Amino acid sequence: MQTEDVSKDFSQVRHIAFIMDGNGRWAKLRGLPRTSGHAEGAKTFDKIMRACFARGINTVTVYAFSTENWSRPEVEVKTILKLMSQYISYAEKKINENDIRVIFLGDKGRLSPALRKKAEALEEKSKNNGHILNIAFNYGGRDELVHVFRRLIQEGKTDITEDDITSRLYTAESPALDLVVRTGGDLRISNFLIWQSAYAEYYFTPTLWPDFSEEELDKALLDFCARERRFGKV
Ligand code: FPP
Repeated sequence: MQTEDVSKDFSQVRHIAFIMDGNGRWAKLRGLPRTSGHAEGAKTFDKIMRACFARGINTVTVYAFSTENWSRPEVEVKTILKLMSQYISYAEKKINENDIRVIFLGDKGRLSPALRKKAEALEEKSKNNGHILNIAFNYGGRDELVHVFRRLIQEGKTDITEDDITSRLYTAESPALDLVVRTGGDLRISNFLIWQSAYAEYYFTPTLWPDFSEEELDKALLDFCARERRFGKV
């Protein structure tokens, strides 16, 4: 019989998000092209996402590609698009046995028809699974809000509540965001989940994303659990 490691139960964290920064610097430090950093970052993504689910956290969101990232060198953009396509192919085989529901956050309209089709097929195939993995891809927090406001106008809504906005975000299916972890040492949110993070906690670390480990994940989670969240109250 397997014994459960209760020291690794962080189910009070219902939704965690990662800004996976530092891939380029990780590669540069090793004299490798930046693209190698993204390939290594994709491996870390898979490991950390699974580690979160194993700790009882039901919803994981990662920032894989922003609306601004299109202006990076073509070779780098192509590499990230290819990594995503490879990940989808891998996930198509594994996702149901791992009970993971994949949802892409962002505007799929700018993706190639082939990648868009693959992304939508994976969402459809995994839609009845229990854990939620949100992959922010061609995602921008402001862009997301513009989409919501356009929808509200199209629907003819005039008396708008916070719930009207929250329920039309790409994260409509996810619980409230608890914790955002940013690796790579920068202290900013870079247009990520700007509505959702209103009352989220932040954890910043200088560790570069490919080096982010399960030990450091536990450190971030313990740090979060020791915080007192007041949500604006006393
Ligand atoms: C930021 O690091 C990282 C990105 C813009 C891309 C993140 C992408 C991945 C981890 C791979 C995605 C793949 C899957 C399958 C989810 P940076 O390039 O800005 O690093 P730097 O600040 O050191 O230059």
